[in-house]
Amino acid sequence: MEKTNILLVDDHPKNLVALEAILDSSEYHLVKATSGKEALRCLLNQDFAVILLDVRMPDLDGFETAALIKEREKSRRIPIIFLTAVDKTDPSIFKGYSIGAVDYMFKPLSPTILKSKVAVFVDLYKKQEEIIQLNQTLERRVAERTSMLEIANKKLEEVGVLKGEFFADISHELRTPLSVIRGEAEVTLRGKEKPVAEYKKALQYIILLTEQLNQLVSDLLFLARSESGDIRIDRRQVPLQEILTHVCREGETLAIKKEIKVALTHQDQDILVQGDAQRLKQLFLILVDNAIKYSNPGGDVRISLQRDEKCGRVVVSDDGIGVSEEALPYVFKRFYRAEKAGSMARGGAGLGLSIAKWIVEAHEGVISVSSVVGKGSTVTVALPLSEKTKS
Ligand SMILES: Nc1ncnc2c1ncn2[C@@H]1O[C@H](COP(=O)(O)OP(=O)(O)OP(=O)(O)O)[C@@H](O)[C@H]1O
Ligand SMILES: [Mg+2]
Repeated sequence: MEKTNILLVDDHPKNLVALEAILDSSEYHLVKATSGKEALRCLLNQDFAVILLDVRMPDLDGFETAALIKEREKSRRIPIIFLTAVDKTDPSIFKGYSIGAVDYMFKPLSPTILKSKVAVFVDLYKKQEEIIQLNQTLERRVAERTSMLEIANKKLEEVGVLKGEFFADISHELRTPLSVIRGEAEVTLRGKEKPVAEYKKALQYIILLTEQLNQLVSDLLFLARSESGDIRIDRRQVPLQEILTHVCREGETLAIKKEIKVALTHQDQDILVQGDAQRLKQLFLILVDNAIKYSNPGGDVRISLQRDEKCGRVVVSDDGIGVSEEALPYVFKRFYRAEKAGSMARGGAGLGLSIAKWIVEAHEGVISVSSVVGKGSTVTVALPLSEKTKS
């Protein structure tokens, strides 16, 4: 327990010794001063619960010392008890109180009374300290809460702005194919009857646009659900090789029209990851879909699977149009397309890679892209191996 400081001031050392004997306690730290000046010096760097101050002293007497103590902001509130053997007259007592003393005691002192008076002030001092501490804790907590609230508020504002942008983007994305569908139908129906083939062509185009719209809506739904934490990742041991075989087969189908080859090249065997097969397939299909979509007819799409100590690494590469250095950092951003007109014509909404990134991160993995314009792109996904593979 910390000791409480008490200042004893008397020009006669033997009086100080007597005071020390009366107040001797393990709870007190008694500081002695033999002059007013020395007392003031002690008050410069220490705090005290109470000051016992002799009235008659050479140089600076007790009253003058008290007046100086009361002048200073730091020591103003410390209670002063005057002790005197001589100045027992009413004017002296009155002077003592008017300077701000809390008590005026005559020598010889009654040890019991002095002890209990000092105890009262020590008690008061401790309570004050407690209040100060409580107040500081309270202030600190209020400051902490305030800054937490400020941060939360800022986040809410940011979310608000993002939401606004998101809805603006969504309505734009939905409106474009819808107005194309409507336009296609209106143009076909306008004017004279046309050959059946023309109606067929229009209807086929409308079906294609509807499929794209359908894909867009399900992508948007996926992102919305991923954000609200509604998408469950069903974790099981998944053999990556098996998933990639399926993805490759579906990729081949997607690529037929453009005569692009999709092939599984290098494959390390028996790579297991802890993950959701459905979601992982969705992820690799997004990458293969991009590789096909952004490749020139007759191109090559390669999928490889390798393992290192900690990860299974899937690399999807193409020899297509590539992404410029400036655009590369943004490709995972929602609704981002490197060349707006170009990828619009390819039917993309700019959501594929943001979904891919979400799935990879939900599996504690890492996804990265490198690309050279006109040469092609490479997307690498590293997924942590499941314990079974490691051993
Ligand atoms: N393999 C690639 N080669 C060249 N550019 C690519 C490739 N993959 C992605 N990109 C660029 O990154 C952008 C974002 O890709 P992302 O898959 O997110 O959207 P998208 O393909 O445009 O549309 P969506 O996938 O939603 O149908 C694309 O618009 C394209 O410009
Ligand atoms: Mg895409």
